Amino acid sequence: MQPILEVEGLSKHFQLHEQNKLIPSCANVHTQVHAGQLTALIGPTGAGKSSVLKCVYRTYLPSGGRMLYRDAAGNTTDLAQAAEHRMLELRQRDIGFVTQFLHCLPRRSALDVVCEPLVAQGVGRAAARARASELLGLLNVPERLWGVPPATFSGGEKQRVNLARGLIARPRLLLLDEPTASLDPATTERVIDLIETIKAEGVAMLAIFHDPALVRRTANRVVELTPPVAVSDILETCTS
Ligand SMILES: Nc1ncnc2c1ncn2[C@@H]1O[C@H](COP(=O)(O)OP(=O)(O)O)[C@@H](O)[C@H]1O
Ligand SMILES: [Mg+2]
Repeated sequence: MQPILEVEGLSKHFQLHEQNKLIPSCANVHTQVHAGQLTALIGPTGAGKSSVLKCVYRTYLPSGGRMLYRDAAGNTTDLAQAAEHRMLELRQRDIGFVTQFLHCLPRRSALDVVCEPLVAQGVGRAAARARASELLGLLNVPERLWGVPPATFSGGEKQRVNLARGLIARPRLLLLDEPTASLDPATTERVIDLIETIKAEGVAMLAIFHDPALVRRTANRVVELTPPVAVSDILETCTS
């Protein structure tokens, strides 16, 4: 079976012009993600795990390498080269991202924040709200909060809203950045169950977990990243 996503030699660095410095964030990353499977990215803090997800979602424009995404029609798009309008289309229909933090829209209820990806796909608001209520209930968000904007929620409550929003639309490829980092053990179990459910539905996932036990439980494939070495460090080593 062909992978949904194939990452080949992906690198990203940031240029700090004022300091004339290159900051590498990930280097020469290779990985594959298949339908109905979860690929986990592991490695120490600063190894570039979040940067890989941000490159795939094109929050970051990669500096090098290819990220071949195969859509439902079998067409391949190199996400490293894709035009912005193609990325917008893919983000709406195909690729979802549960980031570490909820960047929530002020003055909209938690329920509407969760609904939004489904509504954007053309699902009616009543049906979307029903599905959102189900997910918020499953993730233990107290019902009294559903009508309230998540801006004032605790970290754990925001993370649950974030997860519900990421899981509601069943993208073909789902990117997860430490989705359970601020959750209690009982809710973490619910999230693992949900991950297994959407895996069984064929969703491909590229995920980062803070807890190695979760990697062991959910991952079909594990890719270890090592922190990239800055060019200035290499020069220093050569001259010392
Ligand atoms: N927007 C950015 N600007 C400058 N440096 C960045 C940026 N994003 C990430 N980096 C750097 O890239 C490296 C990898 O970061 P990150 O991808 O967040 O690692 P991880 O998720 O594995 O902890 C870090 O040294 C970080 O400081
Ligand atoms: Mg990270």
